Amino acid sequence: MEVNIGLLGCGTVGSGVVELVQKRSEMIARLTGLEPIITRVLVRDSHKSRPVVFKHEQLTTNASDILEDPEIRMVIETIGGIEPARTFILQALRAGKHVITANKDLIAEHGAEILDTAEQVGMDVYYEAAVGGAIPLIRPLKESLTANEITDLKGIINGTTNYILSKMTATGADFDEVLQEAQDLGYAESNPASDVDGLDSGRKLAILASIAFHAKVTLDDVDVTGIRTISATDVAYAHELGAVIKLLAEGTDRDGNLSLQVRPTLVLKDHPLAHVSDAFNALYVRGDAAGDLMFFGRGAGSLPTASAIVGDMIEVLRNLRMDTALRVRHLLLPHKRVRRGQG
Ligand code: NAP
Ligand code: HSE
Repeated sequence: MEVNIGLLGCGTVGSGVVELVQKRSEMIARLTGLEPIITRVLVRDSHKSRPVVFKHEQLTTNASDILEDPEIRMVIETIGGIEPARTFILQALRAGKHVITANKDLIAEHGAEILDTAEQVGMDVYYEAAVGGAIPLIRPLKESLTANEITDLKGIINGTTNYILSKMTATGADFDEVLQEAQDLGYAESNPASDVDGLDSGRKLAILASIAFHAKVTLDDVDVTGIRTISATDVAYAHELGAVIKLLAEGTDRDGNLSLQVRPTLVLKDHPLAHVSDAFNALYVRGDAAGDLMFFGRGAGSLPTASAIVGDMIEVLRNLRMDTALRVRHLLLPHKRVRRGQG
């Protein structure tokens, strides 16, 4: 059975999703019993050249073609920013569509509204790609580690700034030269100030801390300093001290008192975080039962991010499959008990 999917946005991340769904559709159908078909794709400019090829009728610049299509059961949002992404997602949920998003700005700022709406209308919302690119972080914190009291989160959760700092360290280049490279590689946000000024890390930390510490954390609760003022000279001084500069995000929960910061930090060269280079991310998590865990992988880019989104998509398909199986079983079960006549 086919499941029609609407894709909102087809830039760096959206085109990775199309590529990966095309590549893995047979495997996904085998795993879930359902075949995902991306039937419509919303973009701003339908004449733009893209790394993936669409049939003419697939592309649209009118969101209603997706949001009001009753055949579309799942919407993947890769537009970014707050509006119109927020309105589209709420509209999709109210129209009975499951939602997957990579949008950390939106989840950090309006996560409660979106998740509450989803619960009210009985739809799923998944957002694994919003933090850490390909690295599974949301689901482990929400599911596998729920038995723990998590006290510490610490790591590198922005690929762009890590790419910039790593290149400055390796080549002695200045900040501005390397920022353009990170943008060309598709790591940076459409407004790279979000990355450079530490806001992207701050929003991601807010999302992680909300889940890990069972608290309502927003960007306003995070003390944020970016890397804009870090110069080649600072990087050279760090080197003389036997250290590198990393933009670290750190959250602690000490008996309900939360402390949350993002700031450029000197990390000694023999520390594992010093070796997290390019657009890679890494996160330490400390749980009272699990002890210390470290998650590491590609934190940005087209296919790494698509990997997380398509993983969420497969989860929604599994849920849909289970719903259908339960409904079929329910239909097959006799509604009344047959009583044997007495004598
Ligand atoms: P992007 O390359 O700028 O792509 C954005 C896409 O959305 C484009 O296809 C654009 O259309 C479309 N779009 C933008 N505004 C629209 C509007 N008002 N109506 C219709 N379509 C609109 O961005 P991206 O890098 O793929 O990032 C997308 C999302 O993923 C963001 O939330 C970002 O934070 C998140 N994310 C990105 C990465 C990464 O490595 N890039 C990793 C994890 C999460 P056109 O193509 O016609 O311009
Ligand atoms: N701009 C983000 C980063 C994309 O560089 O980490 C991945 O969330």
